[in-house]
Formats: sequence, structure tokens, C-alpha cells
Amino acid sequence: MYSLVRPLLFSLDAETAHELTLGLLKTIQKRPFVLKLIKSIYRPGQWNDPVEVAGLRFPNRVGLAAGLDKNALVPDVWAALGFGFAELGTVTPLPQPGNPRPRLFRLPQDKALINRMGFNNRGADVAAERLRQRRSRDMILGANVGKNKDTPPQRAAQDYGRGVRALADVADYFTVNVSSPNTPGLRSLQQRDALVDILKTVLETLQELGMPKPVFVKLAPDLSDTAVDEVTDVCMELGCAGLVATNTTLDRSGLRTPADLLARIGEGGLSGAPLHARSTAIVERIRHRADRRLAIIASGGILTPRHAIDKIRAGADLVQLYTGLIYQGPALIAAVKKALRDAA
Ligand SMILES: Cc1cc2nc3c(=O)[nH]c(=O)nc-3n(C[C@H](O)[C@H](O)[C@H](O)COP(=O)(O)O)c2cc1C
Repeated sequence: MYSLVRPLLFSLDAETAHELTLGLLKTIQKRPFVLKLIKSIYRPGQWNDPVEVAGLRFPNRVGLAAGLDKNALVPDVWAALGFGFAELGTVTPLPQPGNPRPRLFRLPQDKALINRMGFNNRGADVAAERLRQRRSRDMILGANVGKNKDTPPQRAAQDYGRGVRALADVADYFTVNVSSPNTPGLRSLQQRDALVDILKTVLETLQELGMPKPVFVKLAPDLSDTAVDEVTDVCMELGCAGLVATNTTLDRSGLRTPADLLARIGEGGLSGAPLHARSTAIVERIRHRADRRLAIIASGGILTPRHAIDKIRAGADLVQLYTGLIYQGPALIAAVKKALRDAA
């Protein structure tokens, strides 16, 4: 079915297609009989293979990556499509518009995207309110938190604490996003002192609320190996649940897309197929260093079931999809679930 819809979506500007799709999914979510129809097509329970990770029971290992549903608009649709978990956000404490458009671009020759959205979102409270109304309870829900663009780095920890406080009663786990390339200075928060400050605030906030939920840190694929080790060590020292590896990359090497087109697109994070190898190598490195002390959610370049198997073999516990959904459609979810179950 998606092969019929895709040419239409690809004929539109990428963000317009994204908005149109989310609008349609919102309509689906509001009508129980349509949601039921979606379930009868996608059979969300099929190929489920429950697994316990970070103390949570995931119905299967395949999740939605952050950024596709930044405002937690359609959690029940993600469950109906068969995801075992969905990571919503990134949300910031205050609403913000993000960068000027155009800010999302397709690179079909590379099965990739470039985005510089810049955390456009309606704020943590709006997302939390929506999530209080969700119906499906069988899917695990992650909340990905970030900082507002205008918050100076020395006050970053407060922003993460505020996001977690707003969403503590609705999220099953949290991801601290310090790896988006589109908020100036954000990635420097991966350095030890800044990261310790943020994670202590987040973990203390959850303790204070009496809701000690698993906390993950999302890494940039452009970190040096030493920096990856350092973040891994900080996570273990402070009692984080694990890492999400990885976010998008600034690297443009080896792309088929012509250089002049890349120059016209400009800055942003690259996702999709070209990210797979580096991202998988990071998963492997973390698993080697942390052994079983941290859980790993793999994100980056899963365009086929085979890519997902690579991630699990490299040491990931769970996988997430974003760009693969844009190129392959929602049938990719069941295909990955089946492949992972068969390969287990
Ligand atoms: C348009 C777009 C927006 C994104 N926004 C976010 C975000 O808000 N927070 C985040 O942690 N990751 C964000 N990401 C990164 C994805 O969650 C994912 O880590 C990355 O795209 C690599 O996976 P993929 O190759 O399967 O897309 C975004 C990615 C894209 C393509």
C-alpha cells in the first residue's frame, strides 16, 4: 500500500508531507473504528516477542525513534502499527518554533534525510496532557527531553529536570537528548561535567517524585571513541539505565547525492542508510565496555530487517526506526519484528 502513497508524499516538500501524514494519523486516532481497521491490517500483536529491558517489559524490540512525533500526537496509532515502544519528543520545557523552513530534506539516492528542525515543539506540558489521554497501555512509552534554545548551557540541567518533572507520570522511561546537532552548543553537554550535572538533576528529580524511572542518554555518532567511552562510564557511575546509539550525523562522506545539492541543502543532521555502519560500531563499543550493565537502544540507518539484526548482533537490546519508515513505510515494522524473532 505504501508504494502507492509514497510517490504522492515524495512529490511534496518533506515537512509538508510529514505534517499531512501526522494530520491523517490524528484523524485515525480519534476514530476508534478506523483505529480498529488499522489494527486488522497491521496486526500489532503478530511477531511479538516480549523482552525485559531496563526493568520494563517490552512487547517486542522495535520502537519509533524520537523526532517523528515530537508533540505526542498519536501514541495509539504507533501501538496499532505494532511498535513495542515509542519515544516521543524531543520536548523542551517551553514551546519553541524551531529553525526557519525549509529544514527537512530527502536524499533518495542515499535513502537518507537531512534535518535541522531545531526542537520545534509545543512544550513538555502539552505533550504530557496528551499522553494522559492515551488509550493503549500495552506499548512502552519513552519521553525524550531537551533544552530550550535560549537556555544558556550553565542552566541546561534545570531544563532537563523540568521536562522530566512534567512527564514523570506518563512516561515509562526517559531519554536525555544531548546529541541533536541543531541546537547550538547542545552536543557539548555530552562532556563529562555537563553530563554529570544534567543526569544528577534528572535522577534526583525522579527520586524526589518517587518515580525512579529508567534514564537513557542519546549519543551523537560523531563522538570520538574516547568520548563514547566517557559517556558510557558516566552512565554506569550515575546509575543510568542505558544509551540510545545514535542520533544523526554531521558527516557527509561517501554520499551518492551530488555535492552541489548537498551544498544547497546546507547544515543539518544526516539520518538513514549512510549512518548504519558508524552507529552499529558505537553500539558494539558500548556493549564491549559496559558488558550487561547498560541497556542499548540502537537507532541509525535501519532501512531493512537485516540492518536491525546487525544492531542486535552488535549488542543492542532494542531498535528504533525513523528514516526507514519514510522510505519503506509502516510494513517495515512487522518485517523487522519477524526477522528479529526468527533470528533469536
Ligand atoms: C526529521 C527528524 C527529526 C528528528 N528529531 C529528533 C529529536 O527531536 N530528538 C531526537 O533525539 N532525535 C531526533 N531525530 C533523530 C532520530 O530519532 C534518529 O536517532 C536518527 O534519525 C537516526 O535513525 P534513522 O536513521 O532510523 O532515522 C530526528 C530525525 C529526523 C530525521
